[in-house]
Amino acid sequence: MPEPLKPVDALTEAEALDELTALADEMSAHDIRYYQDQTPSISDEAYDALKVRNAAIEARFPHLVRDNSPSLRVGAARASQFAPVEHGVPMLSLDNAFSDEDALEFDARIRRFLRLEEEVRYTAEPKIDGLSASLRYERGVLVRGATRGDGRVGEDVTANLKTIKEIPHRLAGSGWPDLIEIRGEVYFRHEDFAALNAAAEAAGQKTYVNARNSASGSLRQIDPQITAQRSLRFFAYAWGELSAPFAETQTEALAKLADWGFRTTAETRTVAGAQGLLEAYARMAQIRPTLGFDIDGVVYKVDRLDWQQRLGFVSRSPRWAIARKFPAEQARTRLEAIDIQVGRTGAVTPVARLAPVLVGGVTVVNATLHNADEIARKDIRVGDTVILQRAGDVIPQVVGVVLEARPADAVPFDYPTHCPCPLHTPLARDVQGEDAEGNPIYGVVRRCTGEFACPFQRIEHLIHFCSRRAFDIEGLGIKQLQTFFDEGLIKAPGDIFRLARNESVLAALRERDGYGETSVRNLVASIEARRRIPLDRFINALGIRHVGETTAVVLARGYGDKDAFLEAMHKVAAGDAEAIHELDALDQIGEAVIEAVAAYFSEEHNLGLVNDLVAQLDIQPVARPKTDTAVAGKTVVFTGSLERMTRDEAKAQAEGLGAKVASSVSKKTDIVVAGPGAGSKLKTATELGVQVMTEDEWLAMIGVTTDGQADG
Ligand code: IVH
Repeated sequence: MPEPLKPVDALTEAEALDELTALADEMSAHDIRYYQDQTPSISDEAYDALKVRNAAIEARFPHLVRDNSPSLRVGAARASQFAPVEHGVPMLSLDNAFSDEDALEFDARIRRFLRLEEEVRYTAEPKIDGLSASLRYERGVLVRGATRGDGRVGEDVTANLKTIKEIPHRLAGSGWPDLIEIRGEVYFRHEDFAALNAAAEAAGQKTYVNARNSASGSLRQIDPQITAQRSLRFFAYAWGELSAPFAETQTEALAKLADWGFRTTAETRTVAGAQGLLEAYARMAQIRPTLGFDIDGVVYKVDRLDWQQRLGFVSRSPRWAIARKFPAEQARTRLEAIDIQVGRTGAVTPVARLAPVLVGGVTVVNATLHNADEIARKDIRVGDTVILQRAGDVIPQVVGVVLEARPADAVPFDYPTHCPCPLHTPLARDVQGEDAEGNPIYGVVRRCTGEFACPFQRIEHLIHFCSRRAFDIEGLGIKQLQTFFDEGLIKAPGDIFRLARNESVLAALRERDGYGETSVRNLVASIEARRRIPLDRFINALGIRHVGETTAVVLARGYGDKDAFLEAMHKVAAGDAEAIHELDALDQIGEAVIEAVAAYFSEEHNLGLVNDLVAQLDIQPVARPKTDTAVAGKTVVFTGSLERMTRDEAKAQAEGLGAKVASSVSKKTDIVVAGPGAGSKLKTATELGVQVMTEDEWLAMIGVTTDGQADG
């Protein structure tokens, strides 16, 4: 579960910068998955939430907007690579029904609306779980194919749809209107989906979680050649724009679609009245496992098209149709044990180990229990018979306990206090805030505090360590790291540098498939190049919580070199008041950072890891702000236009000389440098009696001559 986000208003500038950096990375990773790999890793809603958060932070800190900000590229990147297509008639969605009562009410509603005494006839069609598409035929020729999109505007995927064998390029038979948009579902049959995944796995590529995602990804390939290699199929079940009516009932229309060369669902039945609806549903539920493709319910449609016309639409769904959904599949089984799984961030999740049980065609042995609070709330005990639920592609969940079946010896779960990893480090709950009395409010997530030392978290830390903003080691991407980690060649960051000098390991690597002389030479070179590393990058690479790139720079500048930094950190960990005070005094360092570094440097394994690195690396000091200059320790405000340099340049130069640059004038301001056009800040400065000088006077004071050269 993600940590709750701090309100944007409460973010410090440093936190904002860290978060914007992280958001840019995260969103670009999602974009790559979405566009290049066609395997979206988050829902559109979750992606939009990231976008909104990014925009809110940028709105508050406009000067932090990065060149590569997702807000500058989202439109282009996320917007389709396919041309937009406005549907002649919108592609609507269906209302849902979940019970027999809902189905009966649907029938009653229709009869009320049409004031009918007689029974209504309906089609009951399988609700295919794929993605819908619209095919435009002009004089019988397929001229355009589009995805549903938002219902009004879809994407032009004509070339891709044309590769699907079940989509005719020319309509067969006769009697079709000059213009007709045929609508239906693009989907995979189970065997084709399985074959595709097997091939992907064999090729070491990512596999798809379910047939629907896979169909969607396959259809939205930029290269239609790839779509062509996938055995996508198409069921026709509806139509959009028409130049002339072609049938009087849905049943007749489906028959015509079949005549014209489309596949329609063989399981569709025309039924009479409410009773017919219920029977059709029961039958569909029964044959569902034998269909060979995924369906998630039954679609009921009023058969007579003139009645459909009269019934019309309510907002975005037709009044004449409804989707009766299958319930999430449930099963009962024995809970044999509860294990704790450690995620990448150290967050631990309890997992139910179950006596194997078949749910919706899949044998389930594990299910998530979410967190300790959930286990307590549902009073789940080891030995219990539990109700298991699996809906669509989601992870199976334990929804409850069959209390009547509880054995006398069922054991309440004692939530572990320590990580199950061999180090057995204590688990900690995230603190989310304070109550009125100043007591901590804990979140539901518990975390392993083992950080680098926990094997489950180690690999994730290694990935961060080698990443672009940390050690930036080319040739040690996620895949290579995982391999070296699994083989035990790299278990901790220090191992990376030993590996580069371990002749026997390197010799073995050269023999390896897909490696060879050149790649080993390159790998060694890129590792060796990073033995020399600036202190701020080193600090960032450690992956201490709350210490991102910006905070790492603040710490590095604050302490200057690695010895001063490490000495201070050890003191902070030991609770040395003076050291804590000194850390606190650094600009933008708050409680969260102090606690995080104290925790990090208290952990023995972390200390071992740091020492190991220090021994192998040449950690470069960073320039500390000067203390022996005319402006050291002074707070300066630049206002008006500067003529000799940019505002950013002036700021960097002043900070380099130990000054603090502020954006507004207050009593704490020592100097206001006012250029032409200075307004209210200059006025405030005069009122407060703050020293005001021109740009040239400022430059003279810091010892820069007006031709830009520093004196001496
Ligand atoms: S008819 C105006 N028939 O379900 C109604 N839709 O929730 C147009 N679907 O977007 C849809 N099987 O992707 C219809 N036999 C079927 C269907 C079906 C699956 C999908 C379709 C649609 C969604 C509506």
